[in-house]
Amino acid sequence: MASVNENFLKLPESYLFSEIASRVNKYKEAHPDSKIIRMGIGDVTLPLPKAVTEALHKAVDDMASSSSFHGYGPEQGYAFLRETILKNDFTDRGISIEADDIFVSDGAKSDTGNIGDILGADNVIAVTDPVYPVYVDTNVMGGRAGELVDGKWSKIIYMSCTTANGFVPSLPTERPDVIYLCYPNNPTGTTLTRDQLKVWVDYAIENDSLIMFDAAYEAFITEESVPHSIYEIPGAEKCAIEFRSFSKTAGFTGLRCGYTVVPKTVTAKRSNGDRVSLNRLWNRRQCTKFNGTAYIIQRAAEAVYSQEGKAQVREMLNYYLDNARLMKQSLTAAGLEVFGGVNAPYLWMKTPDGISSWEFFDKLLNELNIVGTPGVGFGPSGEGYFRLTAFGDKDQTKVAMQRIRDWKIED
Ligand code: MLT
Repeated sequence: MASVNENFLKLPESYLFSEIASRVNKYKEAHPDSKIIRMGIGDVTLPLPKAVTEALHKAVDDMASSSSFHGYGPEQGYAFLRETILKNDFTDRGISIEADDIFVSDGAKSDTGNIGDILGADNVIAVTDPVYPVYVDTNVMGGRAGELVDGKWSKIIYMSCTTANGFVPSLPTERPDVIYLCYPNNPTGTTLTRDQLKVWVDYAIENDSLIMFDAAYEAFITEESVPHSIYEIPGAEKCAIEFRSFSKTAGFTGLRCGYTVVPKTVTAKRSNGDRVSLNRLWNRRQCTKFNGTAYIIQRAAEAVYSQEGKAQVREMLNYYLDNARLMKQSLTAAGLEVFGGVNAPYLWMKTPDGISSWEFFDKLLNELNIVGTPGVGFGPSGEGYFRLTAFGDKDQTKVAMQRIRDWKIED
């Protein structure tokens, strides 16, 4: 008889955003006339930039002609996209990685989840807390998490990020093998400066730890002191893997495209102590389990870097950042303590009067018909916090903020 991967049975019944969707659907069924404003999952609302849709149309035409048809593509991504990424995201920023360090994929969620395939089951994992749930859940699936005790997995190191430390994690006291960092941060919307990130790169080199750096929100950075890539920090090319996404940058949540950088200089050890290149292993993994991102999607991603594409993407990002600014002002005016929203599309706030994250979720849904994400869903240190996204339609965002400003929270 087939047996299951028991690790899956350790996980809570549903993924955070599925749980929220199900609660909202139930509410909507009971209150069909409610005008719900969704600020929960970080899904974009603006249509794709024109440069992208034009590239899509053209790529579809390519597929309709035998002279320009594309079947299976390279598992690592087409050279035209890898070279374009290399130039725009790295070389032009003074970072020296190589095109074959870049692996194009169907998104950062898949890659941050799948990367565990090339890691041993005995690695000790560290995450910031609160954290994007994919890092934790996939390590549970991979047997690296231990048991869930009081909201924490027994083998995972949690690095708390709260108002107490200004959302800057302290170095762990116990040495981890793998450290997940996401900056600009999901869910808190906070950042690390170049100097603060250097502390982590230096620590990783000194302790032979591997950093998984999720930079899915780098396009939202507005402040000069915040690094766009971990490879801006000397030494990171020896100890870090970086994940990037076109989802939030260019509205690709429904198209699916991202990429992962695995410099050939990043290694980890095998049981006999020899070092192995992770680029080689990731390449092997991708060639076996992935047949490449669709040609038309890669052409769309390439268009993000054209002159028109860059201008249109900038406009989209400014639209969401304007939402974030308005939200920060309104939430602060409503007496809430708010963080993030300057270099990120997320606003992270303290729930009023110390009520729990889920209580606040229910209150906001029932009393204001606004959906957000309970902080505790991102980890134990998220209890007493709440996340709203700035990815909404501008008018809807204004309505939501008006509802909050008019709200008697203390009632
Ligand atoms: C979020 O809301 O945290 C993100 O949209 C989730 C994701 O990117 O998968």
